Amino acid sequence: MTMMETFEQYLKEKVNEGMPSLTKEAMSYSLMNGGKRVRPQILFSILKDYGLDPQYGFPCGCAIEMIHTYSLIHDDLPCMDDDDLRRGKPSCHKAYNEAVAVLAGDALLTKAFQVALETACSDAQKIEVIQRLSQDAGIEGMILGQDLDMKFENSCSRTFEDLINVEVYKTAKLLTLPMVCAAILSNHKEDLPIWEEIGTKLGIQFQVQDDILDVTSSSEVLGKSTSDLENNKLTAISLLGLDSAKDFVLKLNQEIEELLNKLHSPCENFKELKSYLINRTY
Ligand code: IPE
Ligand code: IPE
Ligand code: MG
Ligand code: MG
Ligand code: MG
Repeated sequence: MTMMETFEQYLKEKVNEGMPSLTKEAMSYSLMNGGKRVRPQILFSILKDYGLDPQYGFPCGCAIEMIHTYSLIHDDLPCMDDDDLRRGKPSCHKAYNEAVAVLAGDALLTKAFQVALETACSDAQKIEVIQRLSQDAGIEGMILGQDLDMKFENSCSRTFEDLINVEVYKTAKLLTLPMVCAAILSNHKEDLPIWEEIGTKLGIQFQVQDDILDVTSSSEVLGKSTSDLENNKLTAISLLGLDSAKDFVLKLNQEIEELLNKLHSPCENFKELKSYLINRTY
């Protein structure tokens, strides 16, 4: 079994722990359905680059993937993006109902903290990890991004700074989180400021690519609905246009390469993952 297959099993075990319920069924439905697992893979690649066993990061990787999945369940709700397809299957509120989807999201978020605490690290490291999880998922992080995303929906005054703010908060915060956790768990906090910079740029790049794919690909390939245009979202496409958005992705890539050279690790595994990300088609 590959490391990522073992991780899939770990996710399944964690999400199914305890008493069965309809909400738990919905949590498992949304979590165990072919997400790319980009954020856990970032964590595992950096742990490996620092000479640690990726399995040490399983609880933390699971926590981040649970938070990310919760964000997707709520993002798809009729009151938000109103999307019916996610990860190749009906969205959680379509497969179950809105109430169950709200609860499944809430439960994945809270379960994440329970699982993160199972990391085999010191109590001081656990506190730091939990502090960052709550900050970057919350109103100083992803939630703020979703707030801004809604604020700029249908707005006629939108600037480049607004776009960057939306993408940094709604996406880059949860993509930086595994980098921060890897630095904390491997006692390489001297690299934290550089990882924060890399994560911010990689997160913007990841969301710009998502915006590009929303208009250039199909829901069959992406496994999710494409609704940015219909929802009149502020995206890299609506603000910059397709060509400039593509140029922006390449510019960010160059900046990330330069930052990687400043780290106290050759980060080969992370670099490999990064080149997969820049070429992704879904
Ligand atoms: C989708 O994230 C939402 C964004 C932040 C762009 P992913 O592209 O990582 O989605 P999954 O986890 O593979 O479904
Ligand atoms: C979502 O951005 C970011 C989240 C916090 C979930 P999008 O709304 O563009 O994500 P997709 O395209 O639905 O996956
Ligand atoms: Mg959205
Ligand atoms: Mg969406
Ligand atoms: Mg999108």
